[in-house]
Amino acid sequence: MRQIQFFDTTLRDGEQTPGVNFNTKEKVQIALQLEKWGINVIEAGFPIASPGDFEAVKAIAENVTQMTVAGLARCQKKDIDRVYEALKNAVDPQIHVFLATSEVHMKYKLKMTPDDVLASIKEHVTYARNYFEKVQFSPEDASRTEKDFLLKAVQTAIDAGATIINIPDTVGYSNPAEYGALFKFLITQIKSEKEIIFSSHCHDDLGMATANALAAIENGANRVEGAVNGIGERAGNTALEEVALALAIRKDFYHCQSTIVLNETKRTSDLVSRLSGIAVPKNKAIIGDNAYAHESGIHQDGVLKNPETYEIITPTLVGVSQNSLPLGKLSGRHAFSSKLEELGYQLTDDESKEAFKRFKILADKKKQITDNDLVALLADQHREEIEKYRLADVQVQYISNGYQSAIVSITDEDNQIKVASKIGSGSIQAIYNAIDELFQQRPKLTDYEIQALTSGEDAQAEVRVTLHDEKSKQDFRGIGVDFDVLHASAKAYVQASNHLIQEH
Ligand code: KIV
Ligand code: ZN
Repeated sequence: MRQIQFFDTTLRDGEQTPGVNFNTKEKVQIALQLEKWGINVIEAGFPIASPGDFEAVKAIAENVTQMTVAGLARCQKKDIDRVYEALKNAVDPQIHVFLATSEVHMKYKLKMTPDDVLASIKEHVTYARNYFEKVQFSPEDASRTEKDFLLKAVQTAIDAGATIINIPDTVGYSNPAEYGALFKFLITQIKSEKEIIFSSHCHDDLGMATANALAAIENGANRVEGAVNGIGERAGNTALEEVALALAIRKDFYHCQSTIVLNETKRTSDLVSRLSGIAVPKNKAIIGDNAYAHESGIHQDGVLKNPETYEIITPTLVGVSQNSLPLGKLSGRHAFSSKLEELGYQLTDDESKEAFKRFKILADKKKQITDNDLVALLADQHREEIEKYRLADVQVQYISNGYQSAIVSITDEDNQIKVASKIGSGSIQAIYNAIDELFQQRPKLTDYEIQALTSGEDAQAEVRVTLHDEKSKQDFRGIGVDFDVLHASAKAYVQASNHLIQEH
């Protein structure tokens, strides 16, 4: 069996999803979960991009103990120096240097000749090798690069000391037959005394990111890059959970194995969905809510007789919990702590006390507290610890056939309270107008989604919003969970507004 390494770029390419901004604490939390999931290499970020990115890469390097930690760098010495600084304390550091090699990128974006590009690869991979044992080189837009020039670029990187070659399908243009053949061509043509790891990096513009990654593996790639839930630039990256399951379920075909701990898959997906604000579609492979639901009578009958009739993956294999032990009003501290541990949380004493207090308040309103409720509760608590402004109160006056009015108050880190009141055509609009007044911003609400967090009449509402800020031309997302739809809506908007003001 060949061993396939998993390289996760949720915190770098994944964070390039419009509106997704993880803060350092969230990034470390995701990194630790990725480590539990069995990821081999984490691309923690692009340290030169901003001081925040640098701090996050450094914090991840200082917190993970088993994964290799990678940082991204353009072919520029200042980028490489910054990655070195950020990864100084990593147990196993790796640098990822990239430069575009397709004609369109070289001519219009880089304004460099092919010879300039080869010289730059040589210079910067050599420079990176002074600091790093493990150097990965990516010829950006490889799948649209003229094949012989791509081979030259890859050979130049190998000669300069790169031992990991990543072949990005940057714009999601390739297809499995073509992308697989590209790996076969490069792997058979390169010359190297050292063992070279070939890696796939695919985008999903034509819906082929997972199929392309698997084709690369079939043709000799020993590493796959991607992101949890397939998040990322435009249509996203290869969804790593799909590749992990395809290799596991179709071992008979691929003859490959990995270190991915399959029953940590759902937990990893839930965490990334909650912290990124990007909901997982219900019909999404492996992790969607409907992935294990059987609706038609014929299917239900078959599954009852033998699950294998219509189920190739059992929900428990990927950690889809059956909520076997929901908590309730009478659950004590011990049951609560064991549940948190089972869900993968490691809280300090103070955090655990605060979480238990919140749990008791929730249990007074809701009969059964499910895993989803707990994950949302902890996300709320965590968010309040790091956000500058918190929602304090919302009051709404509703008049049928008229304008609605809302009074909203928020508190800052010093517990100073600010209050604003506004009207709107609907209650939510009135609340959002008041929050805009408090934050002194006028973003555009481009997306508003609401769904029940769990099943049952006493389910909490989960609201996700996206705000577009004209000034920075960026999107900001927020999630709010509460029994009351208006309160959940206000929480989500305050969260997105906190992200927005951080940017200004
Ligand atoms: O898609 C891409 O080309 C990238 C590179 C930076 C590897 O993300
Ligand atoms: Zn990419």
